[in-house]
Amino acid sequence: METPHVRLRRVRLLALLLAALSMLIVLVSAYIRLNGAGLGCAPWPECYGQILSGGPHPHAGGVRVLHRVAASLALFIGFGLLWHCLRPEPLPGPKHSAGALLALMILLTVVGVFSADPHRVWAGVINMLGGALLVLLSWRTALAARSERPPTGARRGTGLIHAGLGFLMLTLFLGALIGARYAAPACPALPGCGESAWPAVDGLAALNPIATVNAPALLGDAGGAALHLLHRVCALATLLLLGLGAIRGLVQAEARAIAATVLALLLVQFALGVLTVLGGFALWLAVAHSVGAAVLLAAAMHLLLRLRGRA
Ligand code: HEM
Repeated sequence: METPHVRLRRVRLLALLLAALSMLIVLVSAYIRLNGAGLGCAPWPECYGQILSGGPHPHAGGVRVLHRVAASLALFIGFGLLWHCLRPEPLPGPKHSAGALLALMILLTVVGVFSADPHRVWAGVINMLGGALLVLLSWRTALAARSERPPTGARRGTGLIHAGLGFLMLTLFLGALIGARYAAPACPALPGCGESAWPAVDGLAALNPIATVNAPALLGDAGGAALHLLHRVCALATLLLLGLGAIRGLVQAEARAIAATVLALLLVQFALGVLTVLGGFALWLAVAHSVGAAVLLAAAMHLLLRLRGRA
């Protein structure tokens, strides 16, 4: 019979493979979604969001095939991963995150059926957030499958990281709403949206994800502007809280490398957001911004676990 050590090593390998596949899925689906919306198209912004009025979908045939193949392979590996975690007897470490990962993949497969219709805001939001959670959970499973644990640190700075993670999730949700509501052109300026530097009350209805959209939110749309402004405020709070938490993590030898990674990712992610706006919503900047969010979330979770001596 195989030793738990051998089984853990196999589970870790499968989880790392899933983490890489999840990142590919996030990249490809961001490309399909944002290209389909018309990000960076010409003439901007008239060409944006035409898909909502039955306009042509920008060609992405090969990329769609790649997405399907990667997602099917990930689902297959997800079943295998859980199987190896449970048989012949459950491995205490990774079985919970492997189970959650498989449940998430099944949910995303079901939601995928509905996201063919671009009008459904909730489907776009679940798709985007689900992709980021795929990366997070597969990375979490790989960490839980390590047979050796690094020494426990002084556990300083976890309050800041908890708060930073909360704001990071909010930032992700608001970013996903900008995409799903086709609201990119609603705020092409920095730091505020034209006249408004603060979200107008009548724009807050745009926070509702259980909605359908029939037209893009162009310049002057109160809802679109509110989403952009709230996204920026939450991103700033994330930068401060997670950034300070990571700086405090730098002083602990066992957390230094991951704290430095979180800091670097945070700065790059923030810069990509600013450049997306300043660069006139270039498609590749926005795709990189989407992938960066997923990687940052996984890295921040890793730092938290490391500081608590659990990874
Ligand atoms: C911690 C920092 C940030 C995180 C985690 C983050 C995350 C996200 C996410 C997840 C999306 C959705 C991407 C998609 O639809 O695939 C998004 C969209 C967007 N973000 Fe950020 N963001 C951050 C900072 C910023 C900043 C500082 C700005 C600009 C000042 C910005 C501008 C945008 C814009 C314009 C979009 C809409 C692109 C589109 O989907 O059409 N972001 N962000």
